[in-house]
Amino acid sequence: MSERIRKSVQAMSGYVPGEQPKGEGIIKLNTNENPYLPSPDVQDILSMVDIAVLSRYPDPVCIELRKVIAELHGCDIGNVFVGNGSDEVLALCIRAFVERDGSVGYFDPSYSLYPVLANIEDVEQRPVSLTPAFGWAMPTNYSASLFFLTNPNAPTSLIYKKSDVESFVKGFSGVVLIDEAYADFADENCMDLALKYDNVITARTLSKSYSLAGIRLGYCVGNPELIGAMYKIKDSYNVNYLTQEIARVAILDQDTMKANVSAIVETRRMISEKLEELGFEVCDSQSNFLWVKPLGITAPELFKGLRAKNIIVRYFGNDARTKDYLRVTVGTAPEMLSFLDAVDEILKGEE
Ligand SMILES: Cc1ncc(COP(=O)(O)O)c(C=O)c1O
Repeated sequence: MSERIRKSVQAMSGYVPGEQPKGEGIIKLNTNENPYLPSPDVQDILSMVDIAVLSRYPDPVCIELRKVIAELHGCDIGNVFVGNGSDEVLALCIRAFVERDGSVGYFDPSYSLYPVLANIEDVEQRPVSLTPAFGWAMPTNYSASLFFLTNPNAPTSLIYKKSDVESFVKGFSGVVLIDEAYADFADENCMDLALKYDNVITARTLSKSYSLAGIRLGYCVGNPELIGAMYKIKDSYNVNYLTQEIARVAILDQDTMKANVSAIVETRRMISEKLEELGFEVCDSQSNFLWVKPLGITAPELFKGLRAKNIIVRYFGNDARTKDYLRVTVGTAPEMLSFLDAVDEILKGEE
């Protein structure tokens, strides 16, 4: 049987998404979703959908949605690609821009999907290790056909300075995909670099700041030649009708998104301070999650203790660089206070 499966697929491990537990009373802080409701306009548009439209295929090139995204970023619709989550955008970038004998680069640690996508396409990987403080130092003469630059980075939550990103893309001959999944939670972003440099694409998602992980909508902005290549190879109807409509109204309602982001940023500040008071090392987050090294207890012990109290965070134990840390999504303020109480009880040895 297995000889029917491509060797590279046999050899690879699939991506392991964070757990999606069902059930009452669970505080879910493990997949960087947004705890707040999306725009109320999403509810309205859903009530207005005429189910007759569902018997037809959706717009294959998502014109109305791309118009709204182009307006948001001050560009043309020819600069905008939309996909089934930014995960699809990332996968298509490898397929469009990396030859069979080409290579994919990314920082280590960063989003653990990149190596999986490279394995699927069976192309060489050229990861670049971050420094012990999770900063970056590019090796001299480094090259790759495509580099995934996650900014703010996951799981470290840290942002790289725009001036550093700009110097990097200027000196890099391959395509740089700046993965800005968390940019709405940050003080600066690199969207304009995608309009300034021919080799830069900036990707965003509605899964985090817009509270819409369930609809699967990601997009990217770049020069029309690169965007056109992605349109050539995508699935014919990669974004379904409901997602196109929901995304359109959600993006138009910037006020709701920004209010939710402000609440998360405020809670992030409060929880970071409390964890630092406990002596935990907390990276200076520019995202909707915290990267935390506990004190007085190991990361896996704290992970298990929280789990026993129905609080789920993310632990990446299979890598020496990440095994001492936990990644904690910023939930609502009450959820995070319960998280802090639980941490306190676990440190005191209370069950
Ligand atoms: C850095 C990064 N990029 C992309 C994604 C995926 O986003 P989407 O839900 O749009 O596929 C994630 C999800 O956690 C992420 O952390």
